[in-house]
Amino acid sequence: ALLQTHLSGDQVIVVSNREPYIHEHADSGIVVKRPASGLVTAVEPVMRACSGTWIAHGSGSADRDVVDAGDRVLVPPGQDEYRLRRVWLSAEEEQGYYYGLANEGLWPLCHVAHVRPVFRESDWEAYKRVNQRFADAVVAEARSEDPVVLVQDYHFALLPAMVRERLPQATILTFWHIPWPNPESFGICPWRREILQGLLGSTILGFHTRFHCKNFIETVDRYLEARIEHEHSTIAFREKETLIESYPISIEWPSPEQAAGWASAAECRQRVVGRLGLPTDICLAVGVDRFDYTKGILERLNAVERLLEKRPEWVGRFVFVQVAAPTRSALEEYRSFQERIERVAERINQRFGRPGYQPVHLLATHHEHDAVTELYRAADICMVTSLHDGMNLVCKEFVAARDDLRGVLILSRFAGAARELSEALIVNPYHVEETADALHRAASMPPAEQRERMASLRGTVREFNVYRWAGRMLADAGRWRLRSRIEARV
Ligand code: G6P
Repeated sequence: ALLQTHLSGDQVIVVSNREPYIHEHADSGIVVKRPASGLVTAVEPVMRACSGTWIAHGSGSADRDVVDAGDRVLVPPGQDEYRLRRVWLSAEEEQGYYYGLANEGLWPLCHVAHVRPVFRESDWEAYKRVNQRFADAVVAEARSEDPVVLVQDYHFALLPAMVRERLPQATILTFWHIPWPNPESFGICPWRREILQGLLGSTILGFHTRFHCKNFIETVDRYLEARIEHEHSTIAFREKETLIESYPISIEWPSPEQAAGWASAAECRQRVVGRLGLPTDICLAVGVDRFDYTKGILERLNAVERLLEKRPEWVGRFVFVQVAAPTRSALEEYRSFQERIERVAERINQRFGRPGYQPVHLLATHHEHDAVTELYRAADICMVTSLHDGMNLVCKEFVAARDDLRGVLILSRFAGAARELSEALIVNPYHVEETADALHRAASMPPAEQRERMASLRGTVREFNVYRWAGRMLADAGRWRLRSRIEARV
């Protein structure tokens, strides 16, 4: 209802690289998969609520087999709530735009993750070309001069200005799902000015936290001739004004029917313990991530090792299960990261394991949502130790899954979520001692304290859910549209 109020019949177009549904060929025919992506988790419920069109890169082996002549398919499969338009990229375009500039350049650049960003001229050319192709798709989909276009993430820094040029009346809301670094860090990007100019084609540019907004404004101040109004948080560049605002992203809070369908926490525990062959009387900690070097998986394993080393009473009684979905494996940096983690897990198991006891279980495969919920409900502890993260939704999903008010969240202070979820045990993942101590504290936490913390965390996530995120952004856009209509009259 909130979304309908703000949009009142306006056309909504979402642009993101990752598609919400991937059609794949399998032995049993065509199967549909949901990707592991915080962006998709957050934007999908919003899209279902307001229908419209989602434009994304068609990446599944069967994607082309299910689309119509306009390269569109209705989704969710069987429910047909909105249209998904696929843009087909050549292998070369995908290499340069997605693997190259987006994931070897902008991803490490913005996470300041101690992985050196790579800037190739050919990647930049592909990035520009693909941004233009998606901008063309937006223009082709637009049924009026002023659609609402929701641009998602660092894959599309140039698209807002490209769309603005062709549809000057469009309301372009761009959300940057990853951090924005300080001006010095961003300044090493050879195309820093083009990227800033592209983003300033947006009506509203959103980040997760005020801190990232501040970094962005300072970066513009450093590298462009623009007028900055700190009081209103706006930037005027070439006669065009952009609002820079923080909108902390979130998840859809589970409906009572959904929650009623979950197996009890005890049952989930039994299933997980049975499946992995774990001893029954243990403290179970879990981590759920894409296999990405920004997630702090190595630091997490180091903390587990340190716990077993300094508190031998946990040996045989503490198990850590890491679900890590392989991601961007075409890049060497990602492949070698995965191998390194596998080696460290093996080392810990050799050091502390014994017959019938393996302290670390590394499940390097994609897990569907239900399997992840089961794991969350089975766990005593959830570890989120990102070295830098725009928001991180795993911690919010864990909290949403614990209607039994049990379980302890350990959360990195470098994840945007730490600003909201202050009842978690907040850690600096670079500090192995501190993280190991937090593990011990979590593992020994009395049920009453767990309940108290969890109830409060749940209150926050329930209230500041993904509809609040989208609703606030759209309400700001609505005010903006109204103001320009009034100004046009005078
Ligand atoms: C992060 C990014 C998203 C991206 C997701 C998964 O959450 O902000 O834009 O979709 O990672 O990464 P992938 O490259 O597999 O889409």
